[in-house]
Amino acid sequence: MVIGLLAITAIPTVTGVAFGVSEQRKANSRMQDEKRMAKFYMKVYCEGDSEKSRSLNGRRAVLRDTKVYLDHADPNIRKIPSHTVAAFFIAYPDDDNKRGDGLVSTISDNPPMLNWIYVDKDTLELKYGNRTQSIKHIVGHWGWTEDESGVLLNNKELWAAVEEEEDVWALYYDKNEDGLEGVVDPSKTVVEISIDRDLVVKPGENADASKT
Ligand SMILES: *[C@@H]1O[C@H](CO)[C@@H](O)[C@H](O)[C@H]1NC(C)=O
Repeated sequence: MVIGLLAITAIPTVTGVAFGVSEQRKANSRMQDEKRMAKFYMKVYCEGDSEKSRSLNGRRAVLRDTKVYLDHADPNIRKIPSHTVAAFFIAYPDDDNKRGDGLVSTISDNPPMLNWIYVDKDTLELKYGNRTQSIKHIVGHWGWTEDESGVLLNNKELWAAVEEEEDVWALYYDKNEDGLEGVVDPSKTVVEISIDRDLVVKPGENADASKT
């Protein structure tokens, strides 16, 4: 499974290579689930009145240098160029298929390429990479809240933003629910956030209209 090298439209063909017939049937029926395959921006929701909270609220997950950062929704006002995450859920091709849905994002639009989004098991940073790079880490289960608006990992919303440099925020998974103790330098600001699914094409819109 070399998802990093594939055009989006090539996924069905490739799952045929990676899975047996029954797995493929399962995967196909999932893929026909348009909702899970609907691409979304990962939008930060951050309560709170502090300047930092307000600056984080409404940002989007973006990709650069193997990591997921949180930057302005408008690419033109980002200080560091990056690719905006456009993500969707799809079964992670694990050897035993036990890790449920993974999260895939575009990493470039032209040519269209995809990578897995995963949590580094040691540093708890969100990263992106191909199957080889991701498989030893936390790759699932990804999912959503009951109202389908919040992004979950292993049924929890343990997202944290870490200010790694001034106004440079990276996305982390606070797996141990301790504010990333022992994982990030205590001098750095850690802010609890939620990640919302902000659909690229809103229900009722058609894909062509959204491009104009
Ligand atoms: C995965 O990415 C790494 C680093 O970019 C690369 O060396 C490796 O060849 C890739 N593996 C596959 C299977 O594409």
